Amino acid sequence: MSAVLVEDVSRTFGDVIAVNRVNLKVERGEFVTLLGPSGCGKTTTLRMVAGLEQNTGGRISIGDRVVSDAEKGFFVPPDHRQLGMVFQSYAIWPHMTVFDNVAYPLRIRRKSKAEIEQRVMATLRLVEMDKFAQRPAPALSGGQQQRVAIARALVFEPEVLLLDEPLSNLDARLRTQMGDEFRALQKRLGITSLYVTHDQEEAMALSDRVVVMHGGHILQIGAPEEIYQRPVSRMVAAFFGSPNLLDAKVSACEPEAGTRYFQLTVNGNGWQGKARASEKFEPGESVLILVRPESVRVGDQAADGALSWTGKIVSSIFRGPRTSIAIETSGVRINIEAPAILGLKVGDQVKVAVPAGGAWAIRPEDAQK
Ligand SMILES: Nc1ncnc2c1ncn2[C@@H]1O[C@H](COP(=O)(O)OP(=O)(O)OP(=O)(O)O)[C@@H](O)[C@H]1O
Ligand SMILES: [Mg+2]
Repeated sequence: MSAVLVEDVSRTFGDVIAVNRVNLKVERGEFVTLLGPSGCGKTTTLRMVAGLEQNTGGRISIGDRVVSDAEKGFFVPPDHRQLGMVFQSYAIWPHMTVFDNVAYPLRIRRKSKAEIEQRVMATLRLVEMDKFAQRPAPALSGGQQQRVAIARALVFEPEVLLLDEPLSNLDARLRTQMGDEFRALQKRLGITSLYVTHDQEEAMALSDRVVVMHGGHILQIGAPEEIYQRPVSRMVAAFFGSPNLLDAKVSACEPEAGTRYFQLTVNGNGWQGKARASEKFEPGESVLILVRPESVRVGDQAADGALSWTGKIVSSIFRGPRTSIAIETSGVRINIEAPAILGLKVGDQVKVAVPAGGAWAIRPEDAQK
C-alpha cells in the first residue's frame, strides 16, 4: 500500500485547468518532489493532497483511506487527514516561544500536559532545537525558524509530511545546509515526504524520485539521475541547465547487452557516433541527441564510437571552479562546462569528445512536448 495515491486528479478554477489528470504514487518512507516552472500546478497538487483545495476530478488516498473522490462527492477535511505541513512562509507564531509553537498542534488536539511536554521536547531534540525551547520564536535565525516549523509539522506524527518551497526564503548557503539536514532527518525517521520546489538542484539533491510538471501535466517521473540523464522529452531535458540538443538520423539500432537500453549509431551534420536510447529506433528515423555540457571533454582523444567535434571557441565565461565555453563547428554550436584549469580562450581551436554513455537519444515527436 502506498502512503499517498493520486489517481487521475484534476483541478479547474473557472476556465483555468491548474492540474490536469495527474497520477502519482508515493511509497512509505519515500521522498518525492514536484518540480516545475511557476504556475505548473505544484502547489495546487499539494494543497489537494492536504485537503486545502478540493479536486474537481479523480481520487486521492492517504494510506488505505480514500480522502477525496470527486465523482462520489466525498471529501475528508484537512484536520482529519493526519498530515504535517510546512510552507514557504514558515508561519511560526511570533508571540509564542519555540516550545509553544511546537506544542500548538497537540493543544488543539487536547493532549495532556505531560504528553505535550514529552512529545514537544522529543521532537525539538530531533531537529536539535531543544536548547531553544523557551526562546521567543522571532529571536531565531531563518534556518532555526525553519526547524521549528518542521518540528511543529512532525510533532503529532503525521503519516505524510507536505512541504511547499520550505527553503526558498533562505539564502543559498543556508538553503543547501537546511536541505541536506532535512534529507538526513527524513531518511533517519523514514518520514514519507511530498515536497514542492521550482529549484532543479534542490529537487535532485533531496529526492528519491522527482515528478517533472508542466502546464498542469506530469511530463516524467523518475529518480533524479534518470530525469537528468535520460529525459523522455526535449522539455524535460531543457528544464535542467543549458543542454546540447542536436538533430541527427539513426543509421543502426541494437539492444545494449545487459541493460534495458538500445545502442544507436547516429549521423548529424558532419559528425557521427553512438548514443543510447530507452526505445527501439528504425534506421532512417530522426532523433534528437542530448549531450550535457559537463559530459563533453576538451582535448580528449575520441574513443571508438564517441561523438567528437573540432571547432573554435566562440565564447568563454570563467565561473571559478569551471569555465563555460561554446564552440562552433560546421553549423553546430556545442556548450561545454570545462575545468577552469584548462585556461580556454575565445579563438582557440579545440578538439572535443563525448565519452560513451554521454549521448542520449530522444524521439522527435516526444521532443515537441
Ligand atoms: N485560487 C485560484 N484561483 C484561480 N486560479 C488559480 C488559483 N490557484 C491557482 N490558480 C492557477 O492555477 C495554476 C497553477 O497554480 P499553482 O499555484 O499550483 O502553481 P505552482 O506550480 O505552485 O507555481 P509557483 O512555482 O509559482 O508557486 C496557475 O495558473 C494559477 O494561476
Ligand atoms: Mg507554488
